[in-house]
Amino acid sequence: MPRRFAILVTGGAGFIGSHACKALHQAGYLPVTVDNLTTGHADAVKWGPLVHADVRNAAALKDAIKNHGIKAVMHFAASAYVGESMARPAFYYDNNAGGMISLINACLDTGVDKVVFSSSCATYGSPEGGPIREDTPQAPINPYGRSKLMCEEMLHDCSAAHGLRFAALRYFNAAGADPEGDLSERHDPETHLLPLALQATSGRRGPLQVFGTDYPTRDGSCERDYIHVSDLARGHVLAADYLAEGGASTALNLGSGTGHTIFEVLETIRSVTGKTVPHDLAPRRAGDPPSLTADPRLAQQTLGFRTERSRLDQIIRDAAPSFGLAAAREDRHGRHAAE
Ligand code: UFG
Repeated sequence: MPRRFAILVTGGAGFIGSHACKALHQAGYLPVTVDNLTTGHADAVKWGPLVHADVRNAAALKDAIKNHGIKAVMHFAASAYVGESMARPAFYYDNNAGGMISLINACLDTGVDKVVFSSSCATYGSPEGGPIREDTPQAPINPYGRSKLMCEEMLHDCSAAHGLRFAALRYFNAAGADPEGDLSERHDPETHLLPLALQATSGRRGPLQVFGTDYPTRDGSCERDYIHVSDLARGHVLAADYLAEGGASTALNLGSGTGHTIFEVLETIRSVTGKTVPHDLAPRRAGDPPSLTADPRLAQQTLGFRTERSRLDQIIRDAAPSFGLAAAREDRHGRHAAE
């Protein structure tokens, strides 16, 4: 496949960034990772060079852009724990908003005019009334979400003033792992539901705490829209293609469009692995909205993006091996049978 062009991937050593690098490579782009390796893993950078630098170091970004002939950037590098952001807001604004302004300045100084930005459904806050559309008012309820909204606003203003074009991709809950086993989810500390539940199932940690059972949902637990990380990665490639073809700045949801409660997740893990997830009921976690589900249609219309592996049982089947769990065989009717 002819090489398209080099793309700077900040946070390319992280969970979503590394999957995006693989997808970019498969699509013929050269991903050039910039990562400070505080939460990312050098051994996840497999499809292009690694520049070890902090995204707030604009001089290092400019050098990387010039040295590698970068034509577009994908910006993943950020702190991404909602709970931590409540305890350390200044750190979140410094790293996330500070990182964004550093990257924008590096782009403006070097003539790079295309940015794919890792935004979040956390920018919507806690909206009521079913699937969330992109024109739902953005009213974040924690510093993490506010820092991501600030980044969108910076991009919006710089798009108007300088002709920078961007795609802000508002992810719902990224989960799963590379189906070919090249990459997995490795956060330390781990705070996300699916890896924690799989670790509890495999006996690698104690019972999962189910945070809150009195939410206004069908079974009282929080509802989320889980999207396979490989689908998310493909969405980024489509966004890069879209900007390369001259597409206008846009903000798009990337989600499956289907919500699952925590108890539904636990039941799906049981049906896929044949093992019950040990769990305890616990109080609500501060900052958690009851229900977040995407209306995914605008990304379908704008990018032609459709999820392919984001059925919850498929996400769990792909993630299970990296937690030492075997997925049960699936018959041709999609039913699971013990191995
Ligand atoms: N949960 C538990 N027990 C746990 C961990 C999580 O019950 O041990 C619950 C949470 O309370 C929540 C759901 O599982 O209801 C999902 O929690 P995650 O921490 O996996 O994900 P979040 O929905 O909190 O956060 C994710 C990303 C953020 C992003 C956010 C948008 O981690 O970066 O989605 O809502 F901003």
